[in-house]
Amino acid sequence: MKNILALTAVIFMTACSGGVTRSVTSLPDISSTQAKTYVTRCGGCHAVPHPQRLSFQGWKNVLPVMEQRMRERSMTVLSHADKQAILAYLKTHSR
Ligand code: HEC
Repeated sequence: MKNILALTAVIFMTACSGGVTRSVTSLPDISSTQAKTYVTRCGGCHAVPHPQRLSFQGWKNVLPVMEQRMRERSMTVLSHADKQAILAYLKTHSR
């Protein structure tokens, strides 16, 4: 009985991870250059959000806000190439 409860808890937690990936390995196409850019640039302040969390339009809205957050923290803002890679990655894998 205890085991069944524990198992239920695991399934429950997995289902409720809220789209924020707990481990980077669960991102799609993780070995691609685009994914690596995404993980490096978007995992610095919070867990890397799963691309399925938003629509592509949603990502396009979020990106300028994140660039503003980077500026606030005196971090290097996204280069044009970084932004292109991240947008291409999110476009392919967004919902
Ligand atoms: C400089 C730190 C920083 C970096 C780097 C960063 N973020 Fe964020 N992110 C934040 C903060 C702070 C929040 C909390 C919401 C806010 O302040 O806008 C946040 C929130 C979010 C959210 C949740 C927004 C919501 O309304 O639910 C998403 C999605 C997100 N970030 C995506 C990204 C992506 C994609 C990147 C890479 C381009 C990125 N973040 C890089 C600081 C950062």
